[in-house]
Amino acid sequence: MTTAEDGTVYLVGSGPGDPGLLTVKARDLLERADVVLHDRLPGPEILDLIPDGNAEDVGKRAHSDKRTSQAEINERLVAYANAGKSVVRLKGGDPFVFGRGGEEAEYLAEHGVTFEVVPGVTSPVAAPGVAGIPVTHRDHASSVTFVTGHEDPTKPESSVDWAALAEAGGTIVVLMGVTRLPDYTAALRDAGMDPETPVALVERGTRPNQRVATGTLETIVAARDEVGIEPPAVTVIGGVAGVREELEAFLR
Ligand SMILES: C[S@@+](CC[C@H](N)C(=O)[O-])C[C@H]1O[C@@H](n2cnc3c(N)ncnc32)[C@H](O)[C@@H]1O
Repeated sequence: MTTAEDGTVYLVGSGPGDPGLLTVKARDLLERADVVLHDRLPGPEILDLIPDGNAEDVGKRAHSDKRTSQAEINERLVAYANAGKSVVRLKGGDPFVFGRGGEEAEYLAEHGVTFEVVPGVTSPVAAPGVAGIPVTHRDHASSVTFVTGHEDPTKPESSVDWAALAEAGGTIVVLMGVTRLPDYTAALRDAGMDPETPVALVERGTRPNQRVATGTLETIVAARDEVGIEPPAVTVIGGVAGVREELEAFLR
């Protein structure tokens, strides 16, 4: 695919997990790139598309919490590109939604490396969608906010203003928010959000082992524990989460 002067990096989204939701462009690149640096999120069926010897796992290492550092990933991307290779940096969902794709793009630009962004189907839209939850709906929400649930909402340095989100209305979709669910649901209630607000958790959305837990701002923690929801999952907060009830019986 490459010539010596090529050296392009493709920041590619692999979608939410169902291999059928990989874009045609992403599939072509995986099959043809010289090297693919990937995380664990993409899943085995997608990783199997990469020819033997071309894949480099830079996600969490087996039997260890260690990841390849972001600095090392950045350096490898630049080194491969400078060696004239076509490089795919593969990430779950969309590379620019909580995927550090923006930081990698900045690093590449700083180092004079040509790159292309190949968007992917993003989980905060797709996972609710397949569970019968439209993230916008004329009767319920005319805006949607994607937010990280990774931070402790009680810490002053938290970059998420939960009170402002409670005030704003609209749908809130929390990524990386399984563990801290009790903290941010309490923060939203404390900020005046109706405790009866519908909430849904969708784990491994679009995968065969997808699971869903539903409740309200007050009951969702108990529902999470009852179903045993684990990451990766998104939390959908707002009237749209209640739409699933009407659609569920007809969902495949
Ligand atoms: C580091 S973020 C990456 C998001 C990704 N770039 C995207 O656009 O979907 C990882 C989080 O995405 C969410 N996620 C990814 N795939 C998911 C799926 N299939 N179902 C539910 N949540 C998912 C979870 O909240 C997970 O903790």
